[in-house]
Amino acid sequence: MDENLEWNPALLGVRAAAEDVFLDALRRDGGTGSKDVTGVVDALQVEPVGFDGHSVSHHLQRDGELWQLREYAALRSLYHLKEADPHLWVVPRLTGRAKAGMVAVEFDEFGAGRAENIHARLFADLMTDLGLNAQYGHYPDAAPAQALATVNMMSLFGLHRRLRGALVGHFAAVEITSSPGSRGLATALRRVGAGPAAQRFYDEHVEADAVHEQVVRHEVIGGLLEDEPALAADIVMGIEATGHLEALLGDHLLTAWRDGRSALRTPLTP
Ligand SMILES: [Fe+2]
Ligand SMILES: [Fe+2]
Repeated sequence: MDENLEWNPALLGVRAAAEDVFLDALRRDGGTGSKDVTGVVDALQVEPVGFDGHSVSHHLQRDGELWQLREYAALRSLYHLKEADPHLWVVPRLTGRAKAGMVAVEFDEFGAGRAENIHARLFADLMTDLGLNAQYGHYPDAAPAQALATVNMMSLFGLHRRLRGALVGHFAAVEITSSPGSRGLATALRRVGAGPAAQRFYDEHVEADAVHEQVVRHEVIGGLLEDEPALAADIVMGIEATGHLEALLGDHLLTAWRDGRSALRTPLTP
C-alpha cells in the first residue's frame, strides 16, 4: 500500500466523517453520561457477564472447545498482534504521574527490553501454537463487526488529543478486566491441550495485569484526574464504551457458539 495515503486529505476527510458517526453512537448507546470515575472503575472489578449470565471467558473456561478458542484468537489478533500500539499514542498528551504510569505499564507490554517478551510476539506464538496464521492483517475479513469496532475505537481515542480521557478510560477497562479474564482463558487452553506457547500469553497477563491494574487506577487515572479534573466524564465514557462493545461481541460469540456455528464471517480451516 502507498504509505503517502496515511496523510491523504481526501481519505482523512472520509475518516473524520466515519469517526463522528462512530463516536456519536458510542456516546448514545454505550454511555450513561456519568462523571463518577471511582464508581465505574469499582464496577469493573465485578466481572462483566454476557447476555445469558456467562461471559465469554467463563464460557471458554468451562465449556470452550478448541475450534472456539481458535476463532477467539483469530478475531483478537486484530488487536493483540499490535498490542499496545494504539494505547501508546496517548503518552505525548499526558503529563506527570499519568504519563509516568502509562509508560511504566507500556514498558511491560513492549517486552521490558526483550523482543521475545513483547506481548504482540507472545500472541503470535499463541496463534502459531493453535495452527493459525500469525501474520498481522490476516484475519480482518473474517472478523465480525463487533470485533472490528473495539479495535477502531482504540485508534479513534488514541489518535485525537481531545479524546485522551476516553483513551485512558478504555485502557483502564482493558487492564482492570484482563487478569480474571486471562485466568479463564489460560485454563481453557490447558483444558483443550494447547501447547505452552498458547498458554504463556494468558498466564503472563494474569500476573502482569494484576500489577498494571493498580498502576492504571492510582497513577494513570489518579494522575490525570489531578491534572485535568474536567476529563472525568470522558474517562467514564472510555470505560463504558469499552464495556458496551465487549458486551456486543460477547453476545455475538456466545449466540453463534451455542448454536454450534462459527462466529467468524469466513470460518477457519481446521
Ligand atoms: Fe499485554
Ligand atoms: Fe497489561
